[in-house]
Amino acid sequence: MVRLLALSILALLVPSNAAPTTQPDVAYWFTQHIDHFGRNNELWEQHYMVNATYYKAGGPIFITTPGDNTLTSYHTSQTHLTRLAQEHNGLAVAIEQRYYGRSTPFPDLSAKSLEFMTADNMLEDIAAFIRVAKSSPSSVFPVEVEPHAPVVFAGSSFAANVAVWMRARYPDLVVGAWASSAFVNNHLENYRLEQSFGHQLNEIGCGAQFSQAVRELDDILLSGDQARIAKARELFGLPPVSPVGFASIASDLAMSETNDPVTVDGNPGVEAVCAHFDKNTPVLVSYANVAKAAIKKYEYSAVKLTSMGNYNRTERPTTLNQPYRVNNYISCTWFSNWMTAAPKNSGLDPYVSQLLNVDLYLEQCQMTFGEGDYVSNVDEFNKKWFYPLHTATNIFYTVGSVDIWRGNSVAPVTGNVINTNSGSHIEVIEGAAHAQDYDMESVTDILGVKRARHIGNKLVKKWLKRKHIRLEQLEQVE
Ligand SMILES: *[C@@H]1O[C@H](CO)[C@@H](O)[C@H](O)[C@H]1NC(C)=O
Ligand SMILES: *[C@@H]1O[C@H](CO)[C@@H](O)[C@H](O)[C@H]1NC(C)=O
Repeated sequence: MVRLLALSILALLVPSNAAPTTQPDVAYWFTQHIDHFGRNNELWEQHYMVNATYYKAGGPIFITTPGDNTLTSYHTSQTHLTRLAQEHNGLAVAIEQRYYGRSTPFPDLSAKSLEFMTADNMLEDIAAFIRVAKSSPSSVFPVEVEPHAPVVFAGSSFAANVAVWMRARYPDLVVGAWASSAFVNNHLENYRLEQSFGHQLNEIGCGAQFSQAVRELDDILLSGDQARIAKARELFGLPPVSPVGFASIASDLAMSETNDPVTVDGNPGVEAVCAHFDKNTPVLVSYANVAKAAIKKYEYSAVKLTSMGNYNRTERPTTLNQPYRVNNYISCTWFSNWMTAAPKNSGLDPYVSQLLNVDLYLEQCQMTFGEGDYVSNVDEFNKKWFYPLHTATNIFYTVGSVDIWRGNSVAPVTGNVINTNSGSHIEVIEGAAHAQDYDMESVTDILGVKRARHIGNKLVKKWLKRKHIRLEQLEQVE
């Protein structure tokens, strides 16, 4: 899945791997308020789907969201959510997030319309659904579900954040959360992503060479020497784009290649990235070969690459179905977390260009959503949304040891593991890339992934049992 929380403006290069599905997509709709806090009481319809194949009377409800993807039955029938439903006789439900896919409070994605894309509203949408699912299940589900069925929230990437927030904020509605690769802190400049990418490259054997290639490319890009820059551009197989466009396309191409699942057959990043770095090839040529191979693999045309590298475009359509526009709005107005290079004086090896700096991203916010202060709220956001996680219980956090989003997770490569209490569990999945435990099982799964799922399944059982005990005790008291 595309990872929302670390997007660069050009993150559209990372291809979505939402698998095509053969299931009939039966759409259900839930009526929501545009604003849950009284600023706009108009209504809109939120899209959700249900898989009741494994549901047995008395079973729990497993809920997810496709995050920044459009909802399809993939989300209810082909992820680990489906297995959880199977194992616990539960119902699998996926709720599309506001402003994505067919869940559109407004007919466009203008900054004015996006004003109600707040974290509070996004979560309250789901809470409103759960309240009705508990009090009046027959009004939202196609099968008979008992009132007050316990709800477990599960998800990967952005949906993992939704999961932890749902549990932390609405402990009475959600008994536990399975969070595959959630962020637990944000920064204005998120060079932890760059560094986790470097960590993976080091693990698979070409970190030092890649970093050297980035330095050499920056030497050229920052030289101002048009002839040298044009020559490098040709080497990378790119059409005329600005130095910034060049830098970000090159990074995004290489990064997308380290995002695929690691299996018993190996890490696909080795072939896509490290295999290009051999002793006889200059590092810059190797980096160019990584980019060229990716362009070929994803079939990016010159027109497409030109538009991806165009940071100065004046045309910014506000039409629906532009998930990246919504993602950018979230980054610009919630928490930043811009994918930048580490500061030059940090002593850290570079894995992306120095040209990818915070000014670039802030300028993009202004150009896309108009004048505004897009910096000031990072600390506030962390306080409001991440501090409460330290005391939240019944959260199962997973993160792959070579996940390139590991740097902002509960278990970054270096530095402190963020404290969680004993009521939550952290599993670092040895050898795994991004959010692999949330995928449907496969014969090529590595051991760590199987182990994580096993632990998670046991925890879910515990959460569900406890809930039942508590309910019975309550009844006795009454
Ligand atoms: C529910 O999931 C199962 C398992 O993947 C699948 O066979 C079934 O078709 C799904 N049903 C719906 C309605 O998506
Ligand atoms: C946008 O265009 C201006 C003027 O040509 C230029 O100075 C600036 O560097 C460009 N910005 C980016 C990000 O390409």
